[in-house]
Amino acid sequence: SKIKQVEFVKSSSRPRECPVHQLPEFAFLGRSNVGKSSLINSLLRKKQLALTSKKPGKTQLINHFLVNKSWYIVDLPGYGFANAPEAARMDWSSFTKGYFLNRQTLVSVLLLIDGSVPPQKIDLDCANWLGRNNIPMTFVFTKCDKGKPAKGKRPDENVRNFQELLRDSYKQQPPWIMTSSATGLGRDELLLHMSQLRNY
Ligand code: GTP
Ligand code: MG
Repeated sequence: SKIKQVEFVKSSSRPRECPVHQLPEFAFLGRSNVGKSSLINSLLRKKQLALTSKKPGKTQLINHFLVNKSWYIVDLPGYGFANAPEAARMDWSSFTKGYFLNRQTLVSVLLLIDGSVPPQKIDLDCANWLGRNNIPMTFVFTKCDKGKPAKGKRPDENVRNFQELLRDSYKQQPPWIMTSSATGLGRDELLLHMSQLRNY
């Protein structure tokens, strides 16, 4: 699961513009600001390959990155960006839903969930939507370095509560991994997980 080579391939503004290929791909999905682009950079050990920002709504397009010339990582725009105009929010859902429902090469959605805050309705809704549509997913908890018990629960409690709330939604619970782009927590585990899914 070693990263030897990475190249940015394409930004697409709609699903039908995405690169045509036969290689396995993994989509990074999650709330705006959850840390999708940061985690991609941390996995690939490239500082600003995927552009990140303190302000939510940084990633606006579907971005394809080719790894080791043999598999793809896809950085998606975040959902639940509260300040986005209604029209843009509607757009988001038809746009990314189209991608998930029609993408033959999609091996798994990595659903990123902020591990530093309690379970959020929008993430639970998203996990339920993916489950209902039989789209394979992995829960990837982000920002697990940010355990601030004074301000709320610790990441491990947030993670447990999130899964507890989805207990009845799946026949089989999706695999899950705790990560931090700041400390590198979970990086090797996530890379190994993706390589196992590719070779399945
Ligand atoms: P959009 O593209 O807007 O959907 O956001 P995104 O999900 O790609 O988030 P991004 O990677 O741009 O990160 C958002 C903010 O969270 C940045 O300020 C990051 O530095 C911070 N951040 C991301 N990952 C971590 C992490 O593991 N730990 C901590 N402490 N902060 C993080
Ligand atoms: Mg982003």
